[in-house]
Amino acid sequence: MTRGLFVSLEGIDGSGKSTQSARLCAALEAAGRDVVRTREPGGAPGAEAIRRLLVEGDPDRWSPETEILLFTAARRDHLERVIRPGLSAGKIVVTDRFADSTRVYQGATRGDLRGLVDDIHARVIGVEPDLTLILDMNPDLALARGLARGSGEDRFEEFGISFQRKLRAGFRALAADFPDRCVLVDADRPEEVIAAECLARVSERLP
Ligand code: ADP
Ligand code: TYD
Repeated sequence: MTRGLFVSLEGIDGSGKSTQSARLCAALEAAGRDVVRTREPGGAPGAEAIRRLLVEGDPDRWSPETEILLFTAARRDHLERVIRPGLSAGKIVVTDRFADSTRVYQGATRGDLRGLVDDIHARVIGVEPDLTLILDMNPDLALARGLARGSGEDRFEEFGISFQRKLRAGFRALAADFPDRCVLVDADRPEEVIAAECLARVSERLP
């Protein structure tokens, strides 16, 4: 069976993941590669329905434990319907967020739930990206970028700046824990400079 390349983009809200995902996929397609561009929470119809439960409404709507279950349910659907079929067809699958977001957002910000996240992940997901690009930047700047969008999907942004600082620290710790697959990318630079670095990192891993 052919096997493609699985790439995730991670980082705090407003760090430029969707911007870089679009640029990366366009550059890979221009180079003649087959690419699946997707995102979490969501990426498949059922998972997108779960997304709306998660990103809209009152910040206190769900406990972190309930969030872990909802994000994982959405991820399982996404994995079955989009990620695995894409990789099996030999494509490059680029996802805006994956399990590292649950490790950090649910596992490390409102109590230590990392063990629960890792147990559930091992049982029902069980795969990691080949490469994770972590867009790292000052949360004050990223929050200003994110809220400027006014998308109505601001439930997590509304946890506030100290939450975003914990997230940044969580993503940096993750990069140190998984040095083989994670690359920390300085996201406080012009878009095209970041895009060139992301493309170079992916290109190194292509067959
Ligand atoms: P994320 O998907 O991580 O939330 P986005 O890609 O949606 O982030 O970017 C958030 C906002 O910041 C958007 O308005 C986008 O145009 C802007 N932006 C993205 N990358 C940069 C950059 N390198 N410099 C300045 N602004 C940026
Ligand atoms: P996303 O659409 O990537 O938001 P943004 O563009 O603002 O970065 O994700 C929606 C929110 O869901 C975001 O605040 C991060 C959060 N999230 C988790 O808390 N856990 C998860 O496992 C995932 C995938 C996302």
